[in-house]
Amino acid sequence: MDIINLKDNPKLYYVGGVVRDELLGRESLDVDIVYEGNAIEDCASIGEVIRVNPDFGTIRVKVQGREVDIASTRTERYDNKGHLPQVEKIGCTLKEDVLRRDFTVNSLYKSISTGEIFDFTGGLEDLKNKKLRVLHDKSFVDDPTRIIRALKFSHRLGFELEDYTKKLRDEYLENIDYDMCFKRIKKELIETLGLNSDELFEKFINEKIYKLVTPKEVKWPSAGIENLVNKYSLNSDNIWLIYAGVLLDLSRLELTRKEQKILDDFNELEPLNFENDFEIYRAFENKEIESIILFAVLKDEKIARYYFDNLRGIKIQITGKDLENIGFEPSPKYKEIFDFILAKKLENPKMTFSDEINFVKENFSD
Ligand code: CTP
Repeated sequence: MDIINLKDNPKLYYVGGVVRDELLGRESLDVDIVYEGNAIEDCASIGEVIRVNPDFGTIRVKVQGREVDIASTRTERYDNKGHLPQVEKIGCTLKEDVLRRDFTVNSLYKSISTGEIFDFTGGLEDLKNKKLRVLHDKSFVDDPTRIIRALKFSHRLGFELEDYTKKLRDEYLENIDYDMCFKRIKKELIETLGLNSDELFEKFINEKIYKLVTPKEVKWPSAGIENLVNKYSLNSDNIWLIYAGVLLDLSRLELTRKEQKILDDFNELEPLNFENDFEIYRAFENKEIESIILFAVLKDEKIARYYFDNLRGIKIQITGKDLENIGFEPSPKYKEIFDFILAKKLENPKMTFSDEINFVKENFSD
C-alpha cells in the first residue's frame, strides 16, 4: 500500500476500501487518502499541484511521478435527502469526518506515517464478523445509493447486512420517496449489476432493492442471465442493462443513446412463430447483443440461443460491387438477390464466394 512516500506527514491517512481490503488480505480497487485538516491549504507543498476542488476541499498532487488525490476531512449535511450532501465544514477532526461514511467497515483510517488504525465505529469487529452496518438510523434516507452499495460489498466480500441495518433498509424500501438522485443510483447499478451474478441479482429482486428504480412489481426471471452473458456477450460495457432491463421500467434513469437503443431493440423483438431460419436471421441480425440476451431472459430463450449458436456467424460474401461486376445494374432487385443468397447460405453455410456468384447467375440472369 506504500504507493508513494507520503510518510513524513503525520496527518495523512488511508481511508475506506483500501484499509478494509488490506485487513482482509484483498487487492484494492483504488486508494483514498484523507488529510486531517484543510488539504488545499496544507498539502500543496507535497508535490506539484494538478487540480483543486475548493467545494469539497480536495487536491490532486503529483509526487514522484504519481498523481494522488487527497481529501480534506469534512462534515456534510443532507438538506435534500437522497441528493448530494452539502459540505458543512472543511478541515474537521477524523472523528467528525467519519460520520459521513456509509458502513463501519468502510470507516477505518490508517495513519500513513505510523500505520496505526483508527476505528471510531466498531469497524474492526464488523470486519471480523463479516457484517455491513450503517453508522446511524438515517443513513439510507440520506443516501439510498448505500442500499445498492451494500449489495455490491456483500457480494464482493461475502459479507451480510447486520440485522438492524437490514431492518432500516427494508423500512426505507417500503416507503420510498422517489425524490432522489438517479444519476448516482445509476452509477451504483452499473458497478453492481455489472458484476454479472445471478446470485446477486436474485437478491436485488427478492429483497426488493429494485424498488429504488421502479414501483412496479418485478419477479425473478426463470432463465439465468449470468450464463448467457458469459457465453454470448463478450466485452459488453452494458451487462448491467441486461439485468436492469428485467425491470422493464427504467424511465427514471437517464439512459444514453446506446442504452436506449438496447431497450428499443429488445422491444422490437417479439417471440413470433418463425417459419424458417431466414426469418429468425433477419429479425435478429441488426439487434444489439444485449437486447437479444434480454429477449432470451424474458421472452424466448430457445430461439435466441438457436440464433446465437447456429445463425449469427453466417454472412453472405457478395456485395453490390460484385453484382455490378457480373452485369447487374444497381436496382431494388439487389435486395431480392441478397435475400435469396442468404436463404441458400443459411441452408448450406459452407457455400463459397464462387458458389454465391454461380447461384446469382443461374437464378437471376435473363
Ligand atoms: N462513501 C460513502 N458513501 C457513498 C460513497 C462512498 O460513505 N455513497 C465513503 C466510504 O467511506 C467509502 C469511501 O467513501 O469507503 C470511498 O468510496 P468508494 O471508492 O466508492 O468505495 P470503497 O469503499 O473504496 O470501495 P471500492 O472497493 O469499490 O473502491
